[in-house]
Amino acid sequence: MKNTTPKQVVIRVCNDPTCAKKGPESIMRKIKQAFGLENTQKNADYDLEYCGCLGNCDFGPNLSVNDNIIQRANPDTIIGEIAKAAEAIPPTPEEKMANLDKVLDDLI
Ligand code: FES
Repeated sequence: MKNTTPKQVVIRVCNDPTCAKKGPESIMRKIKQAFGLENTQKNADYDLEYCGCLGNCDFGPNLSVNDNIIQRANPDTIIGEIAKAAEAIPPTPEEKMANLDKVLDDLI
């Protein structure tokens, strides 16, 4: 029997220094309006929280939706982008490691 229970959408909004300069609070405000949640709150459908660096600093403000990164988040389009990212296949552990390697290479 297939499990048809909808999966909770985990949203993490980067608030580390580089993204913080690019307005993550406007993204968070839009998400709060759409889903009725404050930072660190969750309900049956969504889990919302600020987070640390997602490794895409040059393209901020960034957020993660079920481990899929949304870059250059725009408050005018973010709710639609969250819906798309929630339906997308999350990155594999190998893809996450490749991204981490790229971030570390950029730092060195
Ligand atoms: S500071 Fe936001 S991705 Fe690095």
